[in-house]
Amino acid sequence: MSTLMRKITFAFLIAYFFGTTICFADPFYWGVASAAFQVEGSPADSDWKIWTHTPGKIEDGTNADRATDFWNRYDEDFQLAGKTDGESPSLGANAFRISLAWERIEPEKGKFSEDALNHYLEMVKSMRQHGLEPFLTLHHFAFPLWVAKGGGPLADSFPNDFAEYAEKVVQFFAQHGSPVHFWMTFNEPNVLAYEGYIYGEWPPGEKGPTQEALKVQFNLAQAHLLAAHKMKIADPTSKVGIALHWRVFQPKRKNFLDARVATVLDFLFNRYFLNTIVKGSPCTSLIQMFCAKTKISTAGALDFIGVNYYSRSLASFTVKAPYYVVEEGTGPHKNDLGWEIYPEGLGIALKDLSDYKKSIVITENGIADHADRWRSSFLLDHIKVLKEAQRSGIDVMGYFYWSLTDNFEWARGLKANFGLVEIRYDTFKRIPRPSFYTYQKIIKDSQAKSVSLERSFGN
Ligand code: GCO
Repeated sequence: MSTLMRKITFAFLIAYFFGTTICFADPFYWGVASAAFQVEGSPADSDWKIWTHTPGKIEDGTNADRATDFWNRYDEDFQLAGKTDGESPSLGANAFRISLAWERIEPEKGKFSEDALNHYLEMVKSMRQHGLEPFLTLHHFAFPLWVAKGGGPLADSFPNDFAEYAEKVVQFFAQHGSPVHFWMTFNEPNVLAYEGYIYGEWPPGEKGPTQEALKVQFNLAQAHLLAAHKMKIADPTSKVGIALHWRVFQPKRKNFLDARVATVLDFLFNRYFLNTIVKGSPCTSLIQMFCAKTKISTAGALDFIGVNYYSRSLASFTVKAPYYVVEEGTGPHKNDLGWEIYPEGLGIALKDLSDYKKSIVITENGIADHADRWRSSFLLDHIKVLKEAQRSGIDVMGYFYWSLTDNFEWARGLKANFGLVEIRYDTFKRIPRPSFYTYQKIIKDSQAKSVSLERSFGN
């Protein structure tokens, strides 16, 4: 064998060995995720602040006025999440996902708060000091009051307003040395649309037809596209993504109608927004002629897809309007909120998303489990599925557990505890649960074995 052939064979064997036994590319982002309104405390005026102070809207009557006091204690949390440093417990993660409160940064249209921006810059610096790559979401459910009062995401002016805010934020960070590379415009535009405009459980509390929620998703998609273009100009090194909730819909019974219902729900909930920002229209193929189309270019507007995966739903047809029923999966194990624990669904979501030919980040995956009974096996089982997906060739570049600490779970209030770390709300003391150490070990083991791979972002 020639020397060259020997080298190639050796390289192949190494690649094969690592490719099958070790599947995390370097850098693989191991992180935890959070959102401003759910953790910061002392919230600025927003639709959600009003909502949480409206009697009957939050199941346990709590609000997010104090939350976990992250606004003041972020450094303590980044230390807890970041690289191991001696005595105090630390997770050893290398990434952290936070969101910025639009309502703090732009409390009035066109008036940006330098104080708020500087505070977030300090947060980002602290993350970096603790070895954490910042992943920043520009919008995670709460709207400044001027946006909400002006019609929220249904207003014609919304895409422009959001794009101006996004541009301002990215410009600000670019002027300070571009310490942030990974941006997400929206968190779960689909959930926002359904909860706020069909189920009415979130602001603005509308119980409208599906049509309304589709309009919201379409306008949010246009806002993403406009913002992404401006963000790329403001900082050409930025990578722009979204964090989309992906629910796996399966037919309840093995019949044609239930299967059709599952497909339609998958389209309306999972793909409507995503298709629009990738293909310019929610619909593909034949039905495209009946569907909305955006005039905003989709080229270069999405570098990665963030997926928030939690569980699956069973769909069935019924003769009564709206002609479908959606139920929780029927598996034996459920979290504290009654959501089925269904790791296989993550594999289905990743496979479905790989059709879009973008790098994927699991931007959320987690379990409400106050007693920490299932969280360790939840982590192990989901990460096993993630490894299998990578082995099958799907480019997954990160995994973010939701969440480092317990926090304010929207309409459910403070009673749903997703944290690897328990929060004692009377003292704000942070107490790692046993699963914190499971995740720490997963990260440590995988980092010890990681291999270097170049990642290229396709547009
Ligand atoms: C969402 C959000 C998070 C939740 C988490 C647990 O999915 O609603 O992105 O804000 O807190 O998903 O439900």
